[in-house]
Amino acid sequence: MPVSIQILIIATTVAKKRLSLAIEIALCKAVFFRDGRRMLQNLTLTNHDAQEDWRPTVSTETAVVLSNKAVNGEYRRLVMSCSALAASAEPGQFFQLLCPESAGEKPFLRRPMSVYGMRKAPPEVEFLYKVTGAGTRGLETLVQGDPLDIFGPLGVGFKLDLSWRSIALVGRGAGLATLAPLASMAAQAGIHVTAILSARRPDLLVSADLFRNCGADVVGVTDSEATSGPANVEKILRGLIAGRGCDAFFTCGSSRLMRVLQRLAAEFGLVGQIAMEQQMACGIGLCHCCVRDFNMNGDIVSRRVCWDGPVFDLAEAMP
Ligand SMILES: Cc1cc2nc3c(=O)[nH]c(=O)nc-3n(C[C@H](O)[C@H](O)[C@H](O)COP(=O)(O)OP(=O)(O)OC[C@H]3O[C@@H](n4cnc5c(N)ncnc54)[C@H](O)[C@@H]3O)c2cc1C
Ligand code: FES
Repeated sequence: MPVSIQILIIATTVAKKRLSLAIEIALCKAVFFRDGRRMLQNLTLTNHDAQEDWRPTVSTETAVVLSNKAVNGEYRRLVMSCSALAASAEPGQFFQLLCPESAGEKPFLRRPMSVYGMRKAPPEVEFLYKVTGAGTRGLETLVQGDPLDIFGPLGVGFKLDLSWRSIALVGRGAGLATLAPLASMAAQAGIHVTAILSARRPDLLVSADLFRNCGADVVGVTDSEATSGPANVEKILRGLIAGRGCDAFFTCGSSRLMRVLQRLAAEFGLVGQIAMEQQMACGIGLCHCCVRDFNMNGDIVSRRVCWDGPVFDLAEAMP
């Protein structure tokens, strides 16, 4: 273990949704490992049950780049060697990456990135990212052996009901990166996946092979082929429901597709989950910069994407 690994532990196993923000802050813990010494900071536990249940669920650590390769003209796949804790990330969770400087640009805030893949032995974590700004331009410069400060896994991931037999995953753009590990989780649970992948052009459809390798039926829809519109996606989904059947919808990356899924879910009495994106600062529920509105049984409620999500009930999501 390198001498100066710092581990910052924030989360608890306490049911987050039942806690007020004040209690959440009180439960925040920072534990630093440095030169073999373990120091506890800011430890203000007000819930004794939480103390008994407490275990580390999040770390900041220096991961090491194993590979960082282009998968097409827009996306790159970053594979990192990491701790077992980081590799325990679940589909739908994310990391805050301290992106390196590039060409004089120094990203001040960490950038959120969904976990694209994870392996337990040896522990590894993967990200699939599109180069859009200073942070991802910095990620693009990483080569094998480089260190990268990663903070996670964070947030609430996807949940599967083991009684389900068939689910539909509908994603667009970087949303496909978020949905991809869910296909693998569903395959392990014996749940069939139909994946509708949307992109501007066929060459930008990422992860199709990954979905296929998990046994999913893959349908690519693109703007250039005029197949990605809501009407066609709805037609495909209606065919699935009438044919094999579908127990639940999962989506990420498109408000238009979200609305199609919400309408069909309401019509056929299906459940669904959506991974939301929002610009973030802290990533741990404290700054409230990632708040979005949700419709909770008719009440419009503000919730933090980083802490209450990023995966939410499809029916409650608003564009
Ligand atoms: C939970 C979560 C998971 C994510 N997972 C992935 C992933 O797996 N792969 C991936 O490529 N990207 C992902 N993103 C998006 C990624 O974090 C942003 O694109 C990030 O801003 C990139 O940093 P940057 O410095 O390169 O670009 P920036 O300079 O930060 O942004 C580039 C442009 O995109 C805009 N922008 C940035 N974030 C958002 C947003 N959330 N909504 C709308 N506009 C935005 C900025 O305003 C700017 O115009 C995720 C975001 C969240 C919140
Ligand atoms: S990013 Fe700070 S509360 Fe979500």
